[in-house]
Amino acid sequence: MNSHFSMVAPHSKRPVVPDVIFGTGREAQDAEAKYGFEKVINSTLGVLMDDTGQLVFLPTVMERLRDLPDSELGAYAPIAGLPDYLSAVQEACFRGHKPNAFTEAVATPGGTGAIKHAVWNYTEMGDEVLIADWYWAPYKTIAEEHGRRIRTFNYFKGDGMNVEAFKGAASELIAAQERVLIILNTPAHNPTGYSISEGEWEEIMGFLREQAKDAAKKIILMVDVAYIDFAGSIEASRDFFKHFGDLPQNLLVLTAFSLSKGYTMYGMRGGAIICLAATQALALEFKDVCSYSNRAAWSNGTRAAMRILADVYKDPVLFQKVEAEREVFKDLLNARNKAFMEEAEKVGLQVCPFRDGFFITIPCKDPAAVSNALKKENLFAVPLQGGLRFAPCAVSEEKCRIAPAMIKKYV
Ligand SMILES: Cc1ncc(COP(=O)(O)O)c(C=O)c1O
Repeated sequence: MNSHFSMVAPHSKRPVVPDVIFGTGREAQDAEAKYGFEKVINSTLGVLMDDTGQLVFLPTVMERLRDLPDSELGAYAPIAGLPDYLSAVQEACFRGHKPNAFTEAVATPGGTGAIKHAVWNYTEMGDEVLIADWYWAPYKTIAEEHGRRIRTFNYFKGDGMNVEAFKGAASELIAAQERVLIILNTPAHNPTGYSISEGEWEEIMGFLREQAKDAAKKIILMVDVAYIDFAGSIEASRDFFKHFGDLPQNLLVLTAFSLSKGYTMYGMRGGAIICLAATQALALEFKDVCSYSNRAAWSNGTRAAMRILADVYKDPVLFQKVEAEREVFKDLLNARNKAFMEEAEKVGLQVCPFRDGFFITIPCKDPAAVSNALKKENLFAVPLQGGLRFAPCAVSEEKCRIAPAMIKKYV
């Protein structure tokens, strides 16, 4: 038989590329087995781990999950999500910083589901979606899966965002397409840890409002807030929402909210897409189309994850416990980030602008070569297109302190 014979429809035929994050992670695990955990810096996975390499979970969230009755564990959820979850998830996202807009939420399996719904429902076949040139790879996967493409802009200039590059790329797309979806992952961006500043938000939104004066255009801004609970105080991490109040009707803001990092329910697949719209009609339209997409893609999300979040936001004692537990994790992460950044400065290792979060990225010319050289020294970090992603979320403070000098040798 012909080994090249294929049954797959043409649009789904793609080159098979191994997942670089999980691939590098596996190599790191092999090295740990061979040389011992202490001898290996496994900085590959984007999940928070303790100093012994074990995933950390919010104890209260896990206890509550284990205590759920069968009816909450095994039953379906409504297609759009449990009603009390849909209120709770908005509270969890905005934390008192909801701007003056009409909001609705639809439950999705993680933030990933929210991104998928935005791409499918708010762009047309063949459209380009605008994202930063440092980006989480699934944005491209999701766009291409749906017959869309990505367009990137240079994210950084000096120690901040290259707002001019953003405006240039956005204007071009707005001129070329009737509708434009822009996805910005902030605060605590993956892979660089950058958070868009107050001044940059002012410029971005001033520009988008100006562009929206052309009533023939439809602009959709999705803010992917997957790491929002690891980006400083509630105030610091949510203040930017104020820029989304009183929007014109042809400028819609969507947020992709995730229960993976902030509530350590990675595998429970909890999240939501939330809209901030100029009119109630637009918000209801959003709810209808995203509910329809839920039905078409996965029917409904994980009820247990929704139940936990809804319960946490109903019970002040439970809420305070979860908050306090997360603070411990934030302190752990901040100490690691600080250690890495201090050493990077000492040894003169240049990193992308960093503010908060799970990752720090080192720009370099040949990331694969740098990554391979470091593997020989038992340091495993993920090669990206323009740099190396180091994940302080996954390694101890001590290892974060020694890594910059090792990396510096090869960049
Ligand atoms: C930038 C970014 N957005 C969204 C997600 C969504 O994750 P999940 O689908 O688990 O909520 C992730 C997870 O790694 C991420 O890094």
